Amino acid sequence: MDCVVSLIITISLALHFPGSCSHVYSRSDFPEGFAFGAGTSAYQWEGAAAEDGRKPSVWDTFVHSRNLDNGDVACDGYHKYKEDVQLMVETGLDAFKFSISWSRLIPNGRGPVNPKGLQFYKNFIQELVTHGIEPHATLFHYDLPQALEDDYGGWLNRTIVKDFTAYADVCFREFGNHVKFWTTLNEANIFTIGSYNDGITGPGRCSGNCKSGNSSTEPYIVGHNLLLAHASASRLYRQKYKDMQGGSVALSLYAIGFSPLTTSKDDEIATQRARDFYLGWMLEPLTFGDYPHVMRRTVGSRLPHFSEEESELVKGSSDFIGIIHYLAANVTNTKPYFPGYADFYSDTGITLSYTCNITTSQCAVTPWALEGVLEYIKQSYGNPPVYILENGKSMKGDFQLQEKDTPRIDYLHVYIGAVLNAVRNGSDTRGYFVWSLMDVFELLGGYSPRYGLYYVNFSDSRLTRSPKLSAHWYSAFIKGDTTFRVSQGISQLQSNFSSSSL
Ligand SMILES: *[C@@H]1O[C@H](CO)[C@@H](O)[C@H](O)[C@H]1NC(C)=O
Ligand SMILES: *[C@@H]1O[C@H](CO)[C@@H](O)[C@H](O)[C@H]1NC(C)=O
Ligand SMILES: *[C@@H]1O[C@H](CO)[C@@H](O)[C@H](O)[C@H]1NC(C)=O
Ligand SMILES: *[C@@H]1O[C@H](CO)[C@@H](O)[C@H](O)[C@H]1NC(C)=O
Ligand SMILES: *[C@@H]1O[C@H](CO)[C@@H](O)[C@H](O)[C@H]1NC(C)=O
Ligand SMILES: *[C@@H]1O[C@H](CO)[C@@H](O)[C@H](O)[C@H]1NC(C)=O
Ligand SMILES: *[C@@H]1O[C@H](CO)[C@@H](O)[C@H](O)[C@H]1NC(C)=O
Repeated sequence: MDCVVSLIITISLALHFPGSCSHVYSRSDFPEGFAFGAGTSAYQWEGAAAEDGRKPSVWDTFVHSRNLDNGDVACDGYHKYKEDVQLMVETGLDAFKFSISWSRLIPNGRGPVNPKGLQFYKNFIQELVTHGIEPHATLFHYDLPQALEDDYGGWLNRTIVKDFTAYADVCFREFGNHVKFWTTLNEANIFTIGSYNDGITGPGRCSGNCKSGNSSTEPYIVGHNLLLAHASASRLYRQKYKDMQGGSVALSLYAIGFSPLTTSKDDEIATQRARDFYLGWMLEPLTFGDYPHVMRRTVGSRLPHFSEEESELVKGSSDFIGIIHYLAANVTNTKPYFPGYADFYSDTGITLSYTCNITTSQCAVTPWALEGVLEYIKQSYGNPPVYILENGKSMKGDFQLQEKDTPRIDYLHVYIGAVLNAVRNGSDTRGYFVWSLMDVFELLGGYSPRYGLYYVNFSDSRLTRSPKLSAHWYSAFIKGDTTFRVSQGISQLQSNFSSSSL
């Protein structure tokens, strides 16, 4: 997207922005204690894939078997973590979202703990805490130990609940003195769809072009086991650690902002169905103890049942909800279903259209979609505490383009403004994390899409990091230096940028 065009778009958006003056705001408009952070995940940032006893996860296996870009080296965070904590400090982050690599800590997924893996996370967490950065740790971010996949089919098998809980136990015990914010499973809903319906993320199972899998049944089995694994880990924390450590445990979900394509009754109902299938699938059990009625009705016997005991276990098991948000989509009703074949998408009975440019893979900037998601969670699920654990913008291109990343600043500016709107209207949102701290190995697209506040030179063996303009912008915002106006703020930053480095 052209910078000038995007600036014009953003300014016109800002003028039509709902609420009062939310295009002019500063950090002090947010409630006391509201956390601003950024994130990465283990496989996307650490590298050192075969070092110090780490064994492969399904992610390593998936990308290597398909000859895709891989995370063997990634940003080499495993060796550069001190340097990276320094970047966080200079940026002024309150908090940092990262994940623990299960197969680095427990290489076979169950059994002995790897002392070097344990030491790495202790050192890293200590480094964060020493510098006053609140660690938000995720236990699972697409990287199931390959051993568990091979032994019994990983998330498809109920045995995973026991093994995940044992892994969580090690993490709570070893790191819980410093880590107060735990996310069990990262974007559990979209992980399930990507990995077991579409087969585009590890372990890459589906009915169509995959070696094995069943898109009719497996997404629902896996979704069920994820909920039970999360709930079991959460119960363990409450029984064994919460009194002593005082932290909280959450599930994180990918939330698309849905709106009907037309004003027809059908599209309106279809939009509610979209929310129920994508978000309610997991948020409904977490809040009320069972799946949405519309899923039960449509998916029938392919949707597992919670026993009474399981329902009680899952209900109320998330102390806050982690939200991952990137996309808005328009919903069209497509009932009746395609005859003879059912997968997650046909079960939903909808078609989604995203306002993205296929050529540039840039999507429209739609901050009201995030505001809508937060409003919907507030109204439909009893206003639980929410942390936005990922939100951000990818840009392709060389260093010059990356450096002048005004579209990313525009994006962050209007999305943070949307969060402020929701908070002002009563949403219990407590934090916002930019994805990502630096350019990382991306889940889809490898090293081509760059989301970072810091540029990483992947052609340089030292993997040099340099601040983009957005790192300066975010830093100034967090430090509360300025009241930003879209145009003034950016031109000032641009002139500051040419004469300084962080
Ligand atoms: C689940 O794994 C166990 C081994 O832990 C195995 O005995 C059982 O057959 C597996 N069940 C399924 C449905 O694959
Ligand atoms: C998927 O599983 C269902 C239920 O067991 C079965 O009827 C269907 O034939 C399977 N589909 C594929 C593609 O294997
Ligand atoms: C599509 O969704 C957007 C919000 O994401 C909404 O503003 C718009 O009215 C919807 N309909 C069409 C036809 O674009
Ligand atoms: C998509 O981006 C390309 C390249 O910038 C541009 O030429 C094209 O007009 C855009 N398409 C739409 C539908 O905006
Ligand atoms: C603000 O919250 C109220 C009460 O939940 C709701 O009725 C209203 O629609 C919300 N406003 C916006 C702009 O979302
Ligand atoms: C990246 O590193 C390579 C190799 O050291 C170097 O030639 C290139 O100039 C660097 N690019 C940038 C944008 O710093
Ligand atoms: C730019 O630099 C000046 C002088 O150091 C500082 O006062 C101002 O706050 C900076 N502006 C931004 C937006 O960072």
